[in-house]
Amino acid sequence: MAVTVVRKFNKTQIPTDFFSIKEQQKINKFLLNNLQLGLDIEVGCGVGLHPLEYARLNESKKIIALERTKTKFNKFLNRFNSHLKNQPKLQDHLLPVGEDAIAFILKFIKQKTVDNYFLLHPNPYPKLKHLNKRWHAMPAMSLLVETLKPGGCIHLATNQEYYYKEALSYMQNIWKLSVKSKNTYYKNDIKGRTHFEIKYLNMGDAIFNVIFQKPMLD
Ligand SMILES: C[S@@+](CC[C@H](N)C(=O)[O-])C[C@H]1O[C@@H](n2cnc3c(N)ncnc32)[C@H](O)[C@@H]1O
Repeated sequence: MAVTVVRKFNKTQIPTDFFSIKEQQKINKFLLNNLQLGLDIEVGCGVGLHPLEYARLNESKKIIALERTKTKFNKFLNRFNSHLKNQPKLQDHLLPVGEDAIAFILKFIKQKTVDNYFLLHPNPYPKLKHLNKRWHAMPAMSLLVETLKPGGCIHLATNQEYYYKEALSYMQNIWKLSVKSKNTYYKNDIKGRTHFEIKYLNMGDAIFNVIFQKPMLD
């Protein structure tokens, strides 16, 4: 599949001054606490099913889960607060953030500090003219790649085969990541990790799941 040139990411065009002082303090505290835990970031986590389960199962990790749509984020936050009653340590492992992921990463995340990014069922933007809104063809993908540790991974899931094939081309040819693993799942193969994934599996769709890896020698 042909790939087109991706324009250079212009960091100066991204506003990052909307984080309140309180929000900044909370984020920096989460980042600085428990430095022994590996850092993962989920972009566009919707109502938060995956980060809640991931944090429960992975005690050696901390995950920041970002969702910019306020209605979805509020559902996630309600779920997070009710889990917190039985799992008080959850707040050491999971930080919900209701802001745009690009501005967040630009402001708070240092180069080569992230173990894993999760992009689970990103908006597919199927129109040709919206190619530059798909994550693999976005200039901002350079930000995800530069904040990944060498050997770190980007996990992508989609039910759209064109998106999956295009991501395979762009991630390897433009972003110089390798494919660590790729699988196709159907209903009964997996439970479904996110709200959208459960919906797509129930509709009989295939789920294309791929893990891209940054080279160890960066
Ligand atoms: C198709 S939904 C999938 C939600 C969830 N991952 C799931 O599988 O159920 C994509 C989500 O990504 C969010 N999103 C897209 N771009 C984002 C960004 N730059 N920062 C934060 N959230 C973003 C949208 O608001 C939307 O809720």
